[in-house]
Amino acid sequence: MKIALIGYGKMGKTIESIALERGHTVDLKIDIDSIGDLTKENLLQCDAAIEFTGPHSAKENITSCLNAGIPVVSGSTGWLEDWAEVEYLCKEKNGSFLYASNFSVGVNIFFEVNKKLAQLMKGHPGYSVTMEEIHHTQKKDAPSGTAITLAEQILQEIPVKKKWVNNETVDPQELSIISKREDPAPGTHSIKYSSAVDDIEIIHTAHSRNGFALGAVLAAEYIYNKKGIFNMKDILGIS
Ligand SMILES: NC(=O)c1ccc[n+]([C@@H]2O[C@H](COP(=O)([O-])OP(=O)(O)OC[C@H]3O[C@@H](n4cnc5c(N)ncnc54)[C@H](O)[C@@H]3O)[C@@H](O)[C@H]2O)c1
Repeated sequence: MKIALIGYGKMGKTIESIALERGHTVDLKIDIDSIGDLTKENLLQCDAAIEFTGPHSAKENITSCLNAGIPVVSGSTGWLEDWAEVEYLCKEKNGSFLYASNFSVGVNIFFEVNKKLAQLMKGHPGYSVTMEEIHHTQKKDAPSGTAITLAEQILQEIPVKKKWVNNETVDPQELSIISKREDPAPGTHSIKYSSAVDDIEIIHTAHSRNGFALGAVLAAEYIYNKKGIFNMKDILGIS
């Protein structure tokens, strides 16, 4: 497959090496200093685009790909207030788009464990639930997109929790997410249920960026000859 990489930072570079290992070629590399090369003509030389830039540029880059008619995978976090617009454009153009707040296969399994644990815990008010996420100091958004997904899964299952907050809280209606920034930390997420007698804790720790990069390349392989809007569950066959 011929891949266009939009965003050639930490993730873009890791994705490039995984893509090459899997027999693909990277035929277009776009970063902030070469944004002028993000043209329909250049995109059409590629089979799929993988976008990892950041919160302020994701929507525009995804839009360029959909307008060019090229399948696009995005992992940029912090732009989801524009989701409806991107979804509309993808449908209008009969395009192909896959977004994941976290491309790691392990994290996507962790999402399922989190949902199941929350279902089991909702009938046990003696346990209080808290979350923690740890990332490197260059991360621009807090809490992480993954922590927000985990928190929203818990809010859906445990009716007493009405919203998440990004600080410690004593309000029983609030779910506390503590964000820590330290180096080096590719990403740790933990959820802890504590009672007077015991604790139950689940933790996912990424050892490197390779897991995210592999998931992004698998996603490009998955969507490049499909039409529609997809997520990691489609790739992993989780219903
Ligand atoms: N979904 C996931 O699994 C996952 C995993 C890791 C990181 N992320 C997210 O991916 C994004 C990138 O992460 P990173 O660690 O590679 O960051 P990074 O800062 O190392 O790289 C981002 C790159 O994008 C470039 N860029 C910025 N604006 C641009 C624009 N308008 N057009 C083209 N390039 C532009 C920057 O110059 C930089 O090289 C962040 O939003 C991060 O939160 C997601």
